Amino acid sequence: MINITIDGPSGAGKSTVARAVAKKLGYIYLDTGAIYRALAYTALNAGVDVTDGKRVSEYIAAVDADVRYEGGEQRVFSGGIDVTEHIRAHRISKAASDISKHTEVRIKLSEIQRKIAAANNAVLDGRDAGTYVLPNAKYKFFLTADIGERARRRYAELALKGAEITIERVLKDIEARDYNDTNRDFAPLRQALDAEYIDSTGKSAEEVAEYIVGKVEN
Ligand code: DC
Repeated sequence: MINITIDGPSGAGKSTVARAVAKKLGYIYLDTGAIYRALAYTALNAGVDVTDGKRVSEYIAAVDADVRYEGGEQRVFSGGIDVTEHIRAHRISKAASDISKHTEVRIKLSEIQRKIAAANNAVLDGRDAGTYVLPNAKYKFFLTADIGERARRRYAELALKGAEITIERVLKDIEARDYNDTNRDFAPLRQALDAEYIDSTGKSAEEVAEYIVGKVEN
């Protein structure tokens, strides 16, 4: 199977680009962040403090996350419940980042990703897809953008959904997530040595997707 990994920080445009690349190539799109979000969502609902390693490790031992495809669209499950429609709220972004730093969580969710990647031509977007989950992926990219632009993109997305939030708050939260994701001990956000670096500042997602497809087709 052919796997393409697209890693990078929050708001770099990974999901839009990865979805477009998958569509153009006829691959499946695996949004790995959605699995962390699904787990974070049910953990919060169960009253679990997602920063507490002991509580999180008890929780992850008892609850399974899962990914299924329906009509080519990814659905994410946690504890057997389809939570796909509930995971995009702003509070879940921070909770997903917090829960993702626990090693047991990363090991368990990485196994799910590897199984899907082994069975399908797939485009994965995430933080450690090229470094830890699939170190042997055929094509690897590291997608980033200027932090001001990342905050503006995320703010526009949230505003469209009617979220009441300021751009300053979004910027602060992105900085906090960057810090969290880059500084965790196990499988932190990092460019794989063999990944191609792409700066999407001032570029449309379509442009970046075309570029990646061009690389894969040649
Ligand atoms: O890509 P996203 O914003 O939906 O991801 C939400 C959080 O989940 C992100 O801040 C860190 C975590 N995450 C991770 O640790 N590893 C991944 N492969 C994907 C997401």
